[in-house]
Amino acid sequence: MRVLLVGNGGREHAIAWKLKQSKNIEKLFIAPGNPGTAMLGANVAIDVNDIDGLVNFAVQNKVGLAIIGPEDPLAAGAVDAFEKAGIKAFGPSKAAAELEADKVFAKEIMRSMSIPTAESRTFTKFSDAKAYIASRDEAVVIKAAGLAKGKGVYVCDEPSDGIIAAEKIMVDKIFGEAGAKIIVEEKLLGEEASILAFVDGRNIYVMETSQDHKPIGDGDTGPNTGGMGAYCPAPVVTEKLMDQIIREILVPTVEGMNRSGKNFKGVLYAGLMLTPGGPRVLEYNVRFGDPETQPILMRMKSDLLEVILAVCDGKLDDVTIKWDKRPSVCVVISAGGYPGEYINGKVITGLDEAAKMEDVMVFHAGTAEKDGNIVTNGGRVLGVTAIGDDIKSAQAKAYAACEKIKFEGAYYRKDIANKAIK
Ligand code: AMP
Ligand code: GLY
Repeated sequence: MRVLLVGNGGREHAIAWKLKQSKNIEKLFIAPGNPGTAMLGANVAIDVNDIDGLVNFAVQNKVGLAIIGPEDPLAAGAVDAFEKAGIKAFGPSKAAAELEADKVFAKEIMRSMSIPTAESRTFTKFSDAKAYIASRDEAVVIKAAGLAKGKGVYVCDEPSDGIIAAEKIMVDKIFGEAGAKIIVEEKLLGEEASILAFVDGRNIYVMETSQDHKPIGDGDTGPNTGGMGAYCPAPVVTEKLMDQIIREILVPTVEGMNRSGKNFKGVLYAGLMLTPGGPRVLEYNVRFGDPETQPILMRMKSDLLEVILAVCDGKLDDVTIKWDKRPSVCVVISAGGYPGEYINGKVITGLDEAAKMEDVMVFHAGTAEKDGNIVTNGGRVLGVTAIGDDIKSAQAKAYAACEKIKFEGAYYRKDIANKAIK
């Protein structure tokens, strides 16, 4: 089968790596891809948001399946466009992608299905939001309702900081239209877990659990990022807790989407806070998480293409997925300055040496090729991922590989997976 994978992050490098192990891949195209995916298939210079360009390319090149990695093209209707052209596409429709693209819609689904989540209010006017936040004498969480590359959430221990965040989003419009509406919600306490499941509109297949590390700094300090590292599985999610998550969260979410006429297919990602009162949804994503996908796919033994086709065909009940028992850890190396301003084009060395290590994969994210060198080309540059007999040895291998990789300004957290070890 000829497959077009859309995206250029660490997630897409990991998906391409896994797809490439399938016997049924005749040809793999990645649009636009990165130097990591170029080692696995043919990169095609089409932007992820150029949906017409992607569909035309797929038609001309007899692509049988399109896999959409990132949220922006999903929210813009990429899956609908491929299907209209008669091409199978993996991911939710534009309507179903609202579960991620509109946090107000997500809250409505949760409310209608009694899915546990933080108490919240929605605002479309800054003055109203300001008055409400000022009236609260406790920590608040301020969220832009639309897509903001994982940076649209401010956890504020002081209401005054909440007002500043709301002003940045609504008045200064730092996320553009994505900040036209905001959600103000209570701060939840607990450990976080990412639950990713394949969903074919009806059946749900939960993948191995993982935990992301959102803030830039060690000890979860500093501003949020797209994710600075992840491990798989998340030991806090016991079997009993998983049963509860499936019953109280995943099943009603899929059911709620069906009831609202937005049948969900693809990867449903529930970002949870495991509070003393039980698991609560922080957010939904409608795609593979990044970086969670790197450690998750490193452990997947089954044929990813088969699973994806089963999702597209509504036959997920025919599939079982085998997992490597060994845990995995991914450490993201980012550009100095990220998640704020940073400079691209720094030459990266040590990649080959790190990639040669046993049980290590260096997934490319923000990289580019220039004059025969691999250079930095984004905030999150690499996802250094390792698998080991236990989480400690996976962590040690990932960090040993990180130490081999050098570029000016390179930064990574030193405590990824400590939570799973303590
Ligand atoms: P989100 O993009 O909605 O998952 O939010 C990004 C991060 O902000 C989450 O991974 C949490 O660390 C944090 N966060 C979001 N909502 C809350 C909340 N209600 N209480 C505490 N932390 C939160
Ligand atoms: N790791 C969080 C995300 O993919 O949005």
